[in-house]
Amino acid sequence: MLKDSYGRIHDYLRISLTDRCNLRCTYCNPVELPRGYFAGTKRMTADEIDKIVSIFVNSGVKKIRLTGGEPLIRKDAKEILQRLSKYPVRLGVTTNGVFIHEFIDIFKQTGIQSVNVSLDSLMKEKNNSITQRDEFDRVIRNINLLLENKFYVKVNMVVMKKVNEDEILEFVEWTKHQPVHVRFIEFMPFSGNHWSSHKVFSHKEMMELISSKYDFIILPEIKNDTAKRYFVPGHLGTFAVISTMSEPFCSGCNRMRLTTDGKLKNCLFSKSEVDILGALRNGHDIVSLIKNCVATKEEFLGGQFTSRLEGTDASKIQNRSMINIGG
Ligand code: 5AD
Ligand code: SF4
Repeated sequence: MLKDSYGRIHDYLRISLTDRCNLRCTYCNPVELPRGYFAGTKRMTADEIDKIVSIFVNSGVKKIRLTGGEPLIRKDAKEILQRLSKYPVRLGVTTNGVFIHEFIDIFKQTGIQSVNVSLDSLMKEKNNSITQRDEFDRVIRNINLLLENKFYVKVNMVVMKKVNEDEILEFVEWTKHQPVHVRFIEFMPFSGNHWSSHKVFSHKEMMELISSKYDFIILPEIKNDTAKRYFVPGHLGTFAVISTMSEPFCSGCNRMRLTTDGKLKNCLFSKSEVDILGALRNGHDIVSLIKNCVATKEEFLGGQFTSRLEGTDASKIQNRSMINIGG
């Protein structure tokens, strides 16, 4: 069992398959960033991912999510899904949705339970301007394809002031006729993403806006969940808020992150990383490295946010860019 010094049991691993993406979302992978750092031998092979996962599963991991960059652009993504499907874990994928139609069968075969799709606007032009690519129609078609095939679909919307906060009500309206589970995510600071506290549209602001139009009920908390979930009676789907910035949920955190170059991060905002892949390649024991990485986890947002949201200086935060961490 992987336990930290605050008694939190870590049984959820997020694995980034690549730090490349076919989209260029301004808040995650801005055009001025290089096109991925980790290719060839720098990143974990399918075989190495499989080996590392077997060790995490033996250490108590029960849930795995594949992320990126965009995980589905990796040529061996199907093989990786197939290999991981043999483990007794809940397997999920976070994707930008562009290639889902090529993966729908493999998702079924490998027992993928939930698919998270990133979508920040329901307006084609605005979406294209956020992603810097023209894939909106394809993503909407693919969300519908997932729904037709009865997948549990979460739609991640990163809410940014003066960019897309005016669409929150439209996203809630979407849950009326479709069983989509929309998650409004507060904008978070990462290296190179032009974050400022003025661009954060907070959980409180979201709820004020939503309550101007809808009567909703609060859904019970799911253990370790990062989202506060809500439901408008009569709607087929639900909505939720991930309030990382204004009301962090670190006390129930159970997650670890493995970057595509095989470094373990005990928090999205951790400064330090542990080189699991290097150790594996050198034939060293990685169990003790993993245990130690979890044991040294900070209590709260990687120990990097000491002040309130308004006082947070993004330039002081030591971290990778989001695309290099894996969401
Ligand atoms: N703030 C909040 N969410 C982000 N994501 C990527 N970058 C940020 C950011 N700066 C989201 C993506 C994806 C999820 C894994 O993380 O939209 O859905
Ligand atoms: Fe790609 Fe997702 Fe980052 Fe957008 S948010 S650039 S789709 S990894």
